Amino acid sequence: MTQEVRAVIARAEGAPVETVTIAVPDPGPGEVVVDVRACGVCHTDLHYRQGGISDDFPFLLGHEAAGVVESVGEGVTDVAPGDFVVLNWRAVCGRCRSCLRGRPWYCFSTHNATQKMRLPDGTELTPALGIGAFAEKTLVAAGQCTKVDPDASPAAAGLLGCGVMAGIGAAVNTGQVGRGDSVAVIGCGGVGAAAVAGSSLAGAAKIIAVDIDDRKLATARKLGATHTVNAKEVDPVEAIREMTGGFGADVVIEAVGRPETYRQAFYARDLAGTVVLVGVATPEMTLELPLLDVFGRGGSLKSSWYGDCLPSRDFPMLIDLYRQGRLDLDAFVTETIALDEVEKAFERMRDGDVLRSVVVF
Ligand code: APR
Ligand code: ZN
Ligand code: ZN
Repeated sequence: MTQEVRAVIARAEGAPVETVTIAVPDPGPGEVVVDVRACGVCHTDLHYRQGGISDDFPFLLGHEAAGVVESVGEGVTDVAPGDFVVLNWRAVCGRCRSCLRGRPWYCFSTHNATQKMRLPDGTELTPALGIGAFAEKTLVAAGQCTKVDPDASPAAAGLLGCGVMAGIGAAVNTGQVGRGDSVAVIGCGGVGAAAVAGSSLAGAAKIIAVDIDDRKLATARKLGATHTVNAKEVDPVEAIREMTGGFGADVVIEAVGRPETYRQAFYARDLAGTVVLVGVATPEMTLELPLLDVFGRGGSLKSSWYGDCLPSRDFPMLIDLYRQGRLDLDAFVTETIALDEVEKAFERMRDGDVLRSVVVF
């Protein structure tokens, strides 16, 4: 048995996305069909459509989603029909070397649904990050579903599935921001703004938001930034040093993904500070640093992969904080849109007009 639903696909490299009908099979062993309630528009969806991530067109886009479990396949016990779930793109195995060493966020044996969703003519679709949630319903592995408080708004909850978790996790999990720390976040788009919110949750005393767009700095203030720096107007490294008594910040989070901003992050940290790279670089980007500058400082340089999150641990906790009014997930939702407005949302994203556009069903 399959059912037909509406969905957004990228058929060929660079072509605008299309809203089409797709066939979703009943869940097989270990699989779940989710009735999608909301799915955010992320840069990665645009990267799939533009080419560069993979050549396996057509893609079924969308991967920042929350929904309600419709049906479950054989052997699925962690979730049941009717559960409200946030989807994740790293269903961990629990058995590989990383999982067994207590670092499941580095699992190298993550998995997705085995069956394929298809176009009506039988063409297999490749779901973005193994999710594909710009669709009324989607098929995922049970491990990609985390049950959370059903009273949370789906638009806000779905954002935890990717960019917002990456940012919060970069601060809390990777950067280990602690009470009283000074933190600087370079780049305050969706990911950086979430790093600001995460630093605030962790009790940082000083949170310096850096961006080149005053609109982003205003949002960062709403989420807990105590200081803002427009990097178009002043040298951000000097500004951060000045704001931290000449020392630099205890934790500097780079959320742009460029060599210049990574260099700034490196020099804006305290001698014993931590630099966290969460911005995604492209393969040709390199950075040269004087070794003596690396040697002359303690601390650490880290990268954050999906916020080093463990969905089953982090999603329910963050939804609880949201429900208690301690984490403003709604601030990330700039607009809610219909399924056939994804292409328009890509344009607004490119113009820097939105933190997140979210498709609601
Ligand atoms: N200095 C400071 N901020 C900058 C600079 C700069 N030189 N250049 C760009 N920015 C700001 C932009 O104004 C924007 O607010 O960085 C922000 C980038 O945010 P988005 O484009 O919204 O991207 P986001 O979704 O936040 O992701 C940021 O993290 O996960 C990765 O792939 C993602 O590399 C991307 C990064
Ligand atoms: Zn594993
Ligand atoms: Zn994403």
